[in-house]
Amino acid sequence: MQLLPTILVPFVLSTLCLFSPSSLLWLLKIFRSICYSEPPHNYSRLLRDIKNVLDPPRAPGMIAILLQERADSNKRLIRALNISNTFVSSEVAVHEQFVRQARHLLNNVKGRGWQSFQSTTFDAVRWQLEQDPSIEIPFDRFIQNITLVVVLLEILQVENPVEALSYDDITLIANHITTLWSLSKKSDPIPPDLLPALQAALRRIVINKNLFPDPLNFVVPAWETLWRVVATTVAYSFARTDYKESFQHFSAYPSERRFARASMMPGETVSVQAIVSEAMRLHPPSKHIGRVRCRSWCPEFFRKWLARPGWIFRKKSADIQKILRCHEIWGSDSDTFDPSRCQEFAGREEEQSAALGLVFGHGPLKCIASSWAPVAAAVISGAILEQFNESMGHTLQVGAEIGGRTGWIGWSVIRKED
Ligand code: HEM
Repeated sequence: MQLLPTILVPFVLSTLCLFSPSSLLWLLKIFRSICYSEPPHNYSRLLRDIKNVLDPPRAPGMIAILLQERADSNKRLIRALNISNTFVSSEVAVHEQFVRQARHLLNNVKGRGWQSFQSTTFDAVRWQLEQDPSIEIPFDRFIQNITLVVVLLEILQVENPVEALSYDDITLIANHITTLWSLSKKSDPIPPDLLPALQAALRRIVINKNLFPDPLNFVVPAWETLWRVVATTVAYSFARTDYKESFQHFSAYPSERRFARASMMPGETVSVQAIVSEAMRLHPPSKHIGRVRCRSWCPEFFRKWLARPGWIFRKKSADIQKILRCHEIWGSDSDTFDPSRCQEFAGREEEQSAALGLVFGHGPLKCIASSWAPVAAAVISGAILEQFNESMGHTLQVGAEIGGRTGWIGWSVIRKED
């Protein structure tokens, strides 16, 4: 018996010596996760994992590292869309310049006020309906075009009146961004004619080359997310009289105050904010936010000189969708649409609003439009929902399921015959 520790201890110690410190750390982590396993839908764990990906404690405020990790993860967008903005660049100067210009553009929109924004939105809806007189318009195209016109006229400050816009160009831009985005996720070659056609159509509308050397750099982050929030909000609201009441009240005089509060009007049950928040909770435009990280044992200093083998770099993903459906804070019916949960927050207000905020990312690279975009989505949704009132000439044909970037099969805007 005395022999056992004499043999075992040196054996264990010499085996441990064969491992590098980081492998030992991994062994320790595995041991710890076995001993203290948490349930898979544990809110604190999900939040910690997301923060570790988007703003890791080992790189507090180290913007250069965060930018590099994001750029490495978004490389596919350069191949597909040839953009050069901060989403694909590791340069701190590009980040500063891009964010400064984006904030400036947003401040201009804010300065003109919500009434002005709404007036552009009504123009865009009217224009879309006039330009396409078909009996049936695909719902995704309808929402994409309206939101794109609003983004171009309001954020990119295109000075042309809406009537001067080419319907073919707008439709092509929306369609090609969506197609190229989807193609960027596949390894197949991308048809070479798509990007030049997209760039040419956009340049015919955004003519200021000094301000926007490549307008796609701004159109992609602003439009690509916004139209999907509008689409889901409209899809969930159009058949609900109470939600439409809320939008009617908000649209009568759109403001942050009306956005946040349900009026005491009969029939109105929830605020517009609760409806938009619930749409974003159930269908966040960025379900996963990706990063490519240098493994901990590899000094950051070397990463620029190294090729990209998987054993040096690994993909990380912040699982936004999972925390937004986590039963622990949203309840066991978290897969269903119920804006009242975002209205009352059922006693877990802090956790629920922190989780909702993650729709816009986390940490130093968090979206600069996080408080503006939900109100903007509500204004656009409100203007569209008005078209589906009894007295107006349109109705919405519903498809099998709510789509995302794609997947709106069966959904269309139907013009009622006189
Ligand atoms: C509902 C609509 C929107 C959603 C859900 C959304 C979501 C996001 C997310 C998740 C990020 C972080 C990306 C990352 O960490 O890799 C982000 C960043 C950003 N967004 Fe948005 N966004 C929206 C609308 C907008 C709009 C309208 C603008 C334009 C004015 C905008 C401008 C930006 C910019 C400039 C950044 C980069 C911030 C930085 O790098 O410091 N977003 N957005």
